[in-house]
Amino acid sequence: MYKKILVTGANGMLGQDLCPILEDEGYEVIETDIQNLDITNFDEVKRVLLEDKPDAVIHCAAYTNVDKAEEDLETARKINVLGTENLAKICGENNITLVYISTDYVFDGGLEKGNSYKPTDKTNPLNNYGLTKFEGEEAVRKYCSNHIIARTAWLYGIHGKNFVETMLSLSDKPELKVVDDQVGCPTWTCELSNGIIKLLQEGNFGTFHVCGSGKTSWYGFAKEIFKLADKTVNLKPCTTEEFPRPARRPKYSVMDNKGICRPWQKALKDYMNLRG
Ligand SMILES: NC(=O)c1ccc[n+]([C@@H]2O[C@H](COP(=O)([O-])OP(=O)(O)OC[C@H]3O[C@@H](n4cnc5c(N)ncnc54)[C@H](OP(=O)(O)O)[C@@H]3O)[C@@H](O)[C@H]2O)c1
Repeated sequence: MYKKILVTGANGMLGQDLCPILEDEGYEVIETDIQNLDITNFDEVKRVLLEDKPDAVIHCAAYTNVDKAEEDLETARKINVLGTENLAKICGENNITLVYISTDYVFDGGLEKGNSYKPTDKTNPLNNYGLTKFEGEEAVRKYCSNHIIARTAWLYGIHGKNFVETMLSLSDKPELKVVDDQVGCPTWTCELSNGIIKLLQEGNFGTFHVCGSGKTSWYGFAKEIFKLADKTVNLKPCTTEEFPRPARRPKYSVMDNKGICRPWQKALKDYMNLRG
């Protein structure tokens, strides 16, 4: 069904894992990033998409600094909303499927423990990043009927700054305090890439949750990382209040992925084996 796929944000953490996986699956891949396709420039988006004529765009480019977005809503909105709207308009007008990567931060995390968010559940972002990603979702729904909105969470991968690498870099500290009252779904970039490809290959459209199965807190995630790395670390659970950050985060943003990805622990094991 799809042969030629254009990826935005191809130099980012997800993009760098997604592009080779797409190629291995036999797709012709057009890798773009801000240097050759600034998504905030409507004319450039139009020119590139009309010249390259992809069947689908996987839109990974984003303003991803959650804390910085609290003081720079304007830039976050320009990239996450205007940039997405530009892509959605051109894709919508030219029958190109648009895959938009969104986030669990569109939810407020006020779920009853034991439940998980369904794609149709009410959104209520707590921070500017979540708000702009949600406004990006709305632009996709408005301008491009052939869309997949893939909400993911707690992403890590070999090509970017992420929690796994941060924890491993801190493993020689005498004591390491990690937040235990935020619960979510750790997701490996390769697992997300495979989930997106599956959704495309099955001909799906709509909003989906593409994150690791199961749930854990950041503290539980750290414990598993050190277990797999065979490192003894003096790990202590702490509260969000003990570790204040500029942006509020949801306390319990567990998403129901309908089994599209494996349990987060299995994916983490593969990631740890791969990074060596
Ligand atoms: N990381 C997470 O935990 C997480 C969780 C949930 C959802 N997501 C979503 O997953 C997607 C991929 O995230 P990621 O972690 O791979 O992000 P990332 O590493 O920050 O990559 C984003 C890429 O987009 C590029 N970009 C920024 N502005 C652009 C513009 N105007 N035009 C074109 N490209 C631009 C960035 O370039 P520069 O580096 O030069 O700015 C970067 O290469 C994003 O949509 C993100 O919102 C991430």
